[in-house]
Amino acid sequence: MILVTGGAGFIGANFVLDWLRETGEPVVTLDALTYAGNPENLASLQGDARHVFVHGDICDRALVDRLLSEHRPRAVVHFAAESHVDRSIHGPAAFVRTNVEGTFTLLEAARDYWTMLASDPKAAFRFLHVSTDEVYGSLGPKDPPFAETKAYEPNSPYSASKAASDHLVRAWHHTYGFPALTTNCSNNYGPYQFPEKLIPLMIANALAGKALPIYGDGRNVRDWLYVSDHCAAIREVLARGRLGETYNVGGWNEKPNLEIVHTVCALLDELRPDPAGAHARLITYVTDRPGHDRRYAIDARKIERELGWRPAETFETGIRKTVAWYLDNQDWVAHVQSGSYREWVDRNYAQR
Ligand code: NAD
Ligand code: DAU
Repeated sequence: MILVTGGAGFIGANFVLDWLRETGEPVVTLDALTYAGNPENLASLQGDARHVFVHGDICDRALVDRLLSEHRPRAVVHFAAESHVDRSIHGPAAFVRTNVEGTFTLLEAARDYWTMLASDPKAAFRFLHVSTDEVYGSLGPKDPPFAETKAYEPNSPYSASKAASDHLVRAWHHTYGFPALTTNCSNNYGPYQFPEKLIPLMIANALAGKALPIYGDGRNVRDWLYVSDHCAAIREVLARGRLGETYNVGGWNEKPNLEIVHTVCALLDELRPDPAGAHARLITYVTDRPGHDRRYAIDARKIERELGWRPAETFETGIRKTVAWYLDNQDWVAHVQSGSYREWVDRNYAQR
């Protein structure tokens, strides 16, 4: 049994589904079902005895204590976070609360639980903290990609809150010997990503004939990784990563935003042609994001060398699957965008 926080969100849901398919080991998912947490992502697990869903907040110490003592997981995989940079610029408080205070609460609850375990389960217990490459700051065009030794230079409220949480995890290992690991991954894309992030937003807007907003000059660079490759990396680090270490995870797929958007448009032109013309006609330059990091790139050699992990998807295969998934799941996007699933959440979870 493992405990997964944030398992109703984009990467967490992909992780839970992949985990159960690949390992069969039961999962308890703890998720607050914020705007980004959607129970529909886990709908295929309804009636599956290997999965327990708990609606709740990682900042709720009593709840986390109860889950740990009731379910006695052998590991915690911590995804729960506020994850969107633009939202962090407009409202940083939720980011500090969930990402910093929530991680602190989980670490303390998990440390108490781990301390009380008998010697064998104690030796086996692991806490994996899922983090981001954004903690390293912004690269110039000729800088080497982020290695694990790169100094932290977070620039947005989001990345600062994630950096703080990474530091807590590091300190809990260093000071208490708590068996923690951290992964720092680049931009994920794939099924179930909330349509506020670049790729699903562009697909949804293009299908609706709406503007495709490009921040600044569109030349900011991100490294892109298909979500199931990230999930596989997390499984490897959880199984065989060295305690106290951090592992950078990336796809060796650096691309400027404009190229990403043109690729999405070209795939839509092929798979769902628009009689009004090529989808790229909708590209619109808008005011830049404040403090917009110019370039991220990941040096993934450590996880490749130590754990033999490599991405299974290229950007070309992953983006084609992603566009096809959004075309096949337009109801999911409509529910998310209309907020209709929120009514369902409120009806079904308000009393729990
Ligand atoms: P997401 O926003 O899609 O999902 C976050 C999930 O956490 C949601 O289900 C939400 O309901 C839940 N949550 C939020 N606050 C909570 C709280 N207080 N208690 C319990 N649950 C809460 O995020 P994502 O894109 O899936 O990212 C997951 C993790 O991976 C985050 O920690 C993020 O920093 C990290 N990460 C994301 C990316 C990416 O490209 N998306 C890349 C690297 C790392
Ligand atoms: O690098 C990992 C990070 O990737 C994760 O830690 C974050 O949780 C995740 O949100 C993501 O952050 P980004 O800010 O890179 O992702 P986003 O999809 O918001 O933006 C990607 C790039 O596209 C960025 O340079 C901003 C730009 N952009 C984004 C949006 C939403 C646009 O030009 N237009 C847009 O409408």
